[in-house]
Amino acid sequence: MGRALAGALLAAGHRVTVWNRTPGRAAELLERGARGAASVAEAVAASEVVLVCILDYADVGTLVEQGGGRAAWQGRTVVNVTNGSPEEARAMAERVAGLGAAYLDGGIMAVPEIIATPGAFVLYSGAPDAFEAHRELLDSFARSVFLGTEPGRAALHDLALLSGMYGMFGGFAHAAALVRSEGGSVAEFTTTLLLPWLTAMADALPPMAAQVDAGDYAVTGSPLAMQVAHDSIGDVSRAQGVSPELFTPVFALMRRRVADGHGSEGFAGVVELLARR
Ligand SMILES: NC(=O)c1ccc[n+]([C@@H]2O[C@H](COP(=O)([O-])OP(=O)(O)OC[C@H]3O[C@@H](n4cnc5c(N)ncnc54)[C@H](OP(=O)(O)O)[C@@H]3O)[C@@H](O)[C@H]2O)c1
Repeated sequence: MGRALAGALLAAGHRVTVWNRTPGRAAELLERGARGAASVAEAVAASEVVLVCILDYADVGTLVEQGGGRAAWQGRTVVNVTNGSPEEARAMAERVAGLGAAYLDGGIMAVPEIIATPGAFVLYSGAPDAFEAHRELLDSFARSVFLGTEPGRAALHDLALLSGMYGMFGGFAHAAALVRSEGGSVAEFTTTLLLPWLTAMADALPPMAAQVDAGDYAVTGSPLAMQVAHDSIGDVSRAQGVSPELFTPVFALMRRRVADGHGSEGFAGVVELLARR
């Protein structure tokens, strides 16, 4: 990912200095005009904006230490796009501020191949002045989305987006197993039926989201009691030899909501079972 981000900066005409723990892995970037730094401290000294993209958040602190003391960091902006928790982001923001630098925590909503293409976006939270000052540079990676001054917000929203993605992937896995159980082509099913169906169903999300915000789940189409009246998906899955383990927890929540007296309401009310308002 670091290579893709540095490449996007070079493509946008920025002056780039790169450091990587294992020497040699930045060779292609050097060929494209990046300058190589022999140490973290050298990279920091050369850069007004210091972008950090390594595997584990826990190691980011070590790199900050290797960058030098307050004199080395003073006045710089650290943009850390290493994935971590909101708590880690808040601690890092405090640490970096203590060194006299501005801090932006980032969550990259892209794989390296789609960096600098229209589908990609990057979430940021932290120092608003730094975001505005370096907005053009950040836009080289992808569309930049600033979520506010609380440094942990980008990490939280990153994980929320991944949760939505894994929900969709889980639904795909179950649907694919069902179709394969009767010898169908998963590829054909996916392109001709599943994608159009999910695309149509995606339109239901904004009204459901409005219900969650309002705490009012008055049904607009399909009441929960109707949806859980039969366990057809579970029954048919078992009969076809397909494990219902991905589907069961969602259905269990829907049933609990009905048992709690919300059978005439919509699906979005299950949020109330997951987290207190
Ligand atoms: N790839 C994606 O699709 C994707 C998408 C969104 C977000 N991200 C996030 O981007 C970050 C990097 O992911 P990646 O895909 O680039 O992983 P990767 O291909 O495994 O590369 C990891 C990089 O981190 C460096 N590194 C690991 N431990 C280090 C340490 N202790 N000190 C210094 N450098 C260290 C590695 O250096 P060496 O070359 O020396 O091993 C390498 O450059 C992660 O936080 C990931 O969650 C990735």
